[in-house]
Amino acid sequence: MTSLLNVAHSSVAVPLSERVYWIGALDPQLRTFDLILKTANGTTYNAYLVRGSHGVAVIDTVKENFAEDFFRRLESVARYDEISVIVLNHLEPDHTGALPELLKRAPQAKLFISHKAQRMVKGLLKTDEAQSFTAVTTNDTVSLGDRTLRFLNTPYLHWPDTQCTYLEEEQILFSGDVFGCHFCDPRLFNDVVGDFRFSFEYYYAHIMRPFKSYVLEALELIEPLPLTIVAPTHGPILRDNPRQYVNRFRELSQPKLRKETADKTLLIFYISSYGNTAKMAEAVYAGASEIEGIRVSLLDLQGGEVEPFVDLIEEADGIVLGSPTINGDATKPMWDLLSSLVVINAQGKVGAAFGSYGWSGEAIGMLEDRLRGLKLRVPLQGIRVKLIPNEAELASCFQFGKQLAEIITEKQKRKVIDFEDLFKKDTPLN
Ligand code: FEO
Repeated sequence: MTSLLNVAHSSVAVPLSERVYWIGALDPQLRTFDLILKTANGTTYNAYLVRGSHGVAVIDTVKENFAEDFFRRLESVARYDEISVIVLNHLEPDHTGALPELLKRAPQAKLFISHKAQRMVKGLLKTDEAQSFTAVTTNDTVSLGDRTLRFLNTPYLHWPDTQCTYLEEEQILFSGDVFGCHFCDPRLFNDVVGDFRFSFEYYYAHIMRPFKSYVLEALELIEPLPLTIVAPTHGPILRDNPRQYVNRFRELSQPKLRKETADKTLLIFYISSYGNTAKMAEAVYAGASEIEGIRVSLLDLQGGEVEPFVDLIEEADGIVLGSPTINGDATKPMWDLLSSLVVINAQGKVGAAFGSYGWSGEAIGMLEDRLRGLKLRVPLQGIRVKLIPNEAELASCFQFGKQLAEIITEKQKRKVIDFEDLFKKDTPLN
């Protein structure tokens, strides 16, 4: 009997079925992916090959420095002149690193990509004479004779270009990054690898969670499909009860917190060295609390922990940040809080900043810039107070809170600031 562990050392393709093969690569040494994601035992770059009666399709490739493994595995099950179709579900370099060389070896192959991938593929191949490609969308198909590939447009999971590909006759979904995770186990299949649940959840939290609304749209396309196997581009191939992973995505895409009230919610975070920013925070809080239909919370970040607030912010309608300026900068807990928001979509929430300062007071503008960078609306100019706030300044803070609450509850016509929608400009999301 072949050892379950010999795949990593093998140069042959691994069958998913009689006509479908894994031709990917293992990267067990990787410890950080895309600079930020922890990969405790590495990752895999999964690529697949489908043989039909009239052609062979390659679905995705691998990271460039793993191309040799990919080509060796491909050559074990097909000749290059048999390849008629190359599907790119996602153009990130971990899946397209071997593409230029594959196109040299199989120049007759036609590329199938999503509409949003068109501009990217030209940049990737770095030639004006880019291989001819066909842009496809949901329910477009390509035939390999007795095998048919159907495309599902699933943008933003995890780049704007992403799509899934469904092999109709075998009910296999090649899902790209969706349902993937960074987990490297040469046994490959979910029923024989180690326990990868932590990795699946971690991957969802960091890659998919900011795009929950797109996950839900993708699930509308995926859930009706009969599924024998879900074959993602990273981590285990899901052949045992693939539906459970689809269901888990549905669960993870629901709001994390129980909705307690129909009211809008405003969170005021502050930190204070000498109590001055704290006084301002209390005044903002008092002003906001005057308005009906909004639930206002005042939260001191002095403890330094920010993770518990991420779920709260995801569900909130507005956040206000109060920080003194220290050494020309906002305080570290504020930056920690803001950097922790990368895992959620804060677009469109109301944001604001205030704080006391001794010399320069840059913190407020810096915080406002970051809020805008995260695509929050910043409808009011922040309040800066030199050292100790006097009665008039505290009254301004009170009004500031009141106005923000009115904007959130739409009692006051909001001042809309248009921010460029980076996603719609197809900017990769690294
Ligand atoms: Fe696995 Fe988004 O690339």
